[in-house]
Parts: sequence; structure tokens; C-alpha cells
Amino acid sequence: MSQVLHDIEKKIIMSLKDTPKQTPENLEESAKLSPDQVRRGIEWLKLKNLAIVNESKKSVFSLGKNGIESLQQGLPERRLLNLLKKGPQKISYLQKELGPIFGPAMGLAKKNNWIETTAEGILLKDSPSELPGEKVLGRIGAGKVPEKYVDKSELTPLLKRPDFIIEDIVKTREISLTYSAKAIELSDSSGAIDVEAQVPEVFVARTHPLKDTIDEIREIFVRLGFSEIIGNMTQPSFWNFDALFTPQDHPARELQDTFYLDNISAKKIGTPEQIRKVSESHKKNWRYHWDVNEARKMVLRTHTTCITIKHLAKNKPDEARTFSLGRVFRNEKVSYKHLVEFNQIEGIVVGKNATLRDLMGIQREFYKQIGITRIKFWPTFFPYTEPSLQTMVYNERLGKWVELFGMGIFRPEVTKPLGITKPVLAWGGGIERIAMLKYELDDVREFYNNRLSWLRSASKCQ
Ligand code: PHE
Repeated sequence: MSQVLHDIEKKIIMSLKDTPKQTPENLEESAKLSPDQVRRGIEWLKLKNLAIVNESKKSVFSLGKNGIESLQQGLPERRLLNLLKKGPQKISYLQKELGPIFGPAMGLAKKNNWIETTAEGILLKDSPSELPGEKVLGRIGAGKVPEKYVDKSELTPLLKRPDFIIEDIVKTREISLTYSAKAIELSDSSGAIDVEAQVPEVFVARTHPLKDTIDEIREIFVRLGFSEIIGNMTQPSFWNFDALFTPQDHPARELQDTFYLDNISAKKIGTPEQIRKVSESHKKNWRYHWDVNEARKMVLRTHTTCITIKHLAKNKPDEARTFSLGRVFRNEKVSYKHLVEFNQIEGIVVGKNATLRDLMGIQREFYKQIGITRIKFWPTFFPYTEPSLQTMVYNERLGKWVELFGMGIFRPEVTKPLGITKPVLAWGGGIERIAMLKYELDDVREFYNNRLSWLRSASKCQ
């Protein structure tokens, strides 16, 4: 976008480029503008973020009635000392000569040991060639003097004396250019300039695009009334698999799919009742010998569903909306679409009237909020849900459908042994997948490459 600058603005900018800080009065002279033009120009530039106005208060000093008198006839104490130069004097004489200033003059002279009281009268002991305050008095003289030209230490005692010094507070405005104004290159001929073109690129600190996506997803769920639950990244197989009705010989549990913590077996994996009922469910429905030692094996969680089921088993809610979000791990070959660790989002709704229709409605709403509108549902299989569905979303750029979230209603074989009585709608999936759509990436590894050029170019708002 190009921005047209008025001739007045250009003159002010040019002048401030020469002399960076100026008062409006300076600008009138340096830019050859009237006071009114300067005033208007400054307002315009301020609105366009091109000028900054710094207001400061400064003192200006001038002499009061007694100050002027002292300037003409000398400070009271100086006049006293002068009278004593010819020799000691009687108090009555001094009183007559000095009038109302006699008292203060005597007080100061005594205090400073310039005089002494003797039998012959007041005697001069010392007559400094310059008394405190004399210099500053002369400096201020008949005019007005800004604070920076006077010596504070000399001025302070005089300020305390009545009617010596008058202090006026004057407001000054200092105009300077902003960073972007300094970058403007003014071309005298055209009159119109492109403000944005010349601004140097700056790379401010920013959050990682993937982190932005995670935050956005978290915000959507919170906005939809879900609360977050969290849990460990390491889990006994019991919660990652068994409680989810995944048989112990299921291929997903094999070493080439799941990371096991070497030789670590959990002592307490659940309540005795939970273990007994889960094992019964496996034996009865899958018809095999269920081994508790297999369930004790610790794994890096392969999905966030273990957090969900643990939460449900503990709380047995009649109604709930929760989500969990975090890293999961799979022993896969790293490729443009697979990482060994990635992030998942998972949500559930519990309620006596919750249906598959609600589940799909929530998906639609979530995708809409993240900016995806073309979606469809496809049947699929998970050991723990029935029916099981998968969302497919249309990638406009690649012109093809891609799988996103898995979902379904938890099977009674999952819920019943754990004492969960109400239907549980559950769904979950990879966050990097969503982020790839958002940032139009074809390689998931880009999120972890720390390539500065990409990180800087990934726009904050999609
Ligand atoms: N756990 C599944 C996955 O990792 C997603 C899912 C969650 C499916 C909840 C159904 C219910 O892909």
C-alpha cells in the first residue's frame, strides 16, 4: 500500500532527518512553515505513526522584586559588609542605613562569620570577594533564564528568600521521527511515496507455528466448553492398551510399533477390581489367556486415549466434556508423513443421550473453527470403539482427501469393566496433520527442522 504524504509532512520529515529532535518553534524555522502548519503536520505524522512528540517540563527563572533590588544595589549582606569597610559601626547606624534588610543581612553575616560584635560596634572580619548567590543573580539579570544555564547549588538558597527568584514551569514539546519515518525515502518530484516498501524487515521473537496451532486448538475446545485433562507420557500397557480392550497379541503392541521402557514393569497399575474386570472382559470376549505381567510393561504412550480412559475410570462421570493434548510416541520409520513423536488432541463427551450424530456435529464444529469446511466421515476400526469412524478432510491444494481424526463410541467391553455407565463419544488425532494443512506443508519434518527461513515466513494468522 502506498501512502501519500502532504508537502508539510515531507518538509517536517526532511528537517527532522537533518536535526533529529526539534521543538515546534525550531521546526517553523528549519522547515520554513507557519506555526499553524507545523502544528497540523505534527498531528498528521503522529496519527500515521511517523512522529513522536515528547512533552517535558522545564523551569525558567527570573528575578522578583527583592532580586531586582539586590541586582541594582547588592545583596543585603553585601551592603552590610560594604558599610563596615570603613571601620566598626554602631547598630543604630546600620539599622538606619539598611532599613528593612538590616535583620536578614546581620543574620547571614553572623552565621558566616563575616562580622563580630565588639565594644566599638559591629566589626568586619572577612569580606569575601564573591558572596553566595551573587553570581547567579547577575546571570539571571533582568531576563528569563532556563534552568540549564543556572547553577542549582547557588540558586537553591536564593529560592528560599522571599521575592528573590521567580520560577516559571514551561512545557516544551520535542518532535522526533519514528523508526518507520526514518526509513522513508522522500522523492521530491512525485509527492507520493510507498511507506511500506522501504521499511527494513525485522524478525521479532515469535512462537513456533506448531505451538500456535496447539494453542489455537486448545482455545477452540475451551471455547466449546471442554476442560483439559493431563497425564503422564509413560504409562503401563494396562491403560494404553488393556483398558482399551486391545488384546495382548494385537500388532499395535509389538516392538516395531511401540516403545517399551526396557525392563520396567509397573507395580500398581490399577485397583484390584479394575484389573480383575478388565482381564475378565478380555478372557470372555477375545478368548485367550490374559497375562497381568504383559499389562505391567511400561510404554511411551502411543495415543492420548490412555489419559481419557484413566480419567473416566477414576471419575465415572454421568456427564463430561474433556480434552487432552500432548506428545505421543510410535516406533515408525520417519518420513514426510510420519514422526516417531508427535502431538495428539483427543476429546470426549459423556452423556446419557450422547449419540453418533452429536459426535459428528462436534467434529464439524471443530473443523469449521479451525478453518476446514470440506469433510466427510468414513467407517474404520479401533478395538475400543463401536461404531468407529474416521474424518476425511479435503486438501484443496493437493486436490485429495486426507484422513484426520479417528472417533467412535466406547464399546461396553471398555466401559463396563471400569464402571462407566453412560455413553462416551471419543475422538482424537494428530495435531501436526492439522498444522500441515494450515501452513501448506507437504513434509511434517519441517516443524522440527528449525529452518529459520521457514519459521520466519510462516504467517502468524492463517
Ligand atoms: N486413539 C486413536 C488414534 O490414536 C484416535 C481415537 C481416539 C479413536 C478416540 C477413537 C476414539 O488414532
